[in-house]
Amino acid sequence: MLMKKIIILFYYAVAAKLPQPPFPLGVFGNWLRRILCQGIFLKCGKNIVVRQNVFFGSGCDIEIGDNSELGLNAYLNRDVKIGREVLMGQNVTILTTNHEFENPDIQIHYQGRRERKPVYIGDDAWIGANSIILPGITIGCGAIIGAGSVVTKDIPPFAVAVGNPARVIRQRGSRVFGSDHPVPRSNTADQATD
Ligand SMILES: CC(C)(COP(=O)(O)OP(=O)(O)OC[C@H]1O[C@@H](n2cnc3c(N)ncnc32)[C@H](O)[C@@H]1OP(=O)(O)O)[C@@H](O)C(=O)NCCC(=O)NCCS
Repeated sequence: MLMKKIIILFYYAVAAKLPQPPFPLGVFGNWLRRILCQGIFLKCGKNIVVRQNVFFGSGCDIEIGDNSELGLNAYLNRDVKIGREVLMGQNVTILTTNHEFENPDIQIHYQGRRERKPVYIGDDAWIGANSIILPGITIGCGAIIGAGSVVTKDIPPFAVAVGNPARVIRQRGSRVFGSDHPVPRSNTADQATD
């Protein structure tokens, strides 16, 4: 436990600040962040890419599959599960928690938080730059989230969704799935190495 805290401290104090390719020391920066995250995340696949300045809190319940990427300046709450081969642009925010706010007589600050809702991102999804993904969302495998989107509802597999709130504008290729198509969750990071 103490060792894990030291790794997390070293990640934020040093490794997160190191540059990413193509800048000098960028390859080393990505390598060091990957090694550290393997010791921090709940499940961490092979060959992940953690770009500069990624924040994931303690990271203890983050899952990420093989060859997936956390983009520059990404911000992840707890309980985010990312599949394999996931691409992520810069400044992506993934949220899993909301404040309680129903009682107008009490400051929101003192009303506590709602139950945390995990976010699932399926294999081969591409999350565009500056997107925001709200608590409880599942992004299907192969889906694309356009730059600057705010994702408020689940996105089906292989859909292209854009805007605020994100709407599906089309499917990739000829693949069309109805709303009852099972959204793959087994692909999150189940086969990743610890
Ligand atoms: C989502 C995306 C992949 C769509 O590409 P595309 O299928 O070629 O889409 P098009 O450019 O043909 O646009 C289709 C429509 O969606 C709209 N649109 C495309 N991207 C949009 C976005 N991010 N937000 C809002 N609307 C968008 C277009 O204005 C167009 O609308 P129209 O039909 O009314 O004219 C692309 O626009 C995008 O956002 N890429 C992310 C880039 C990125 O974040 N890169 C970071 C490096 S990983």
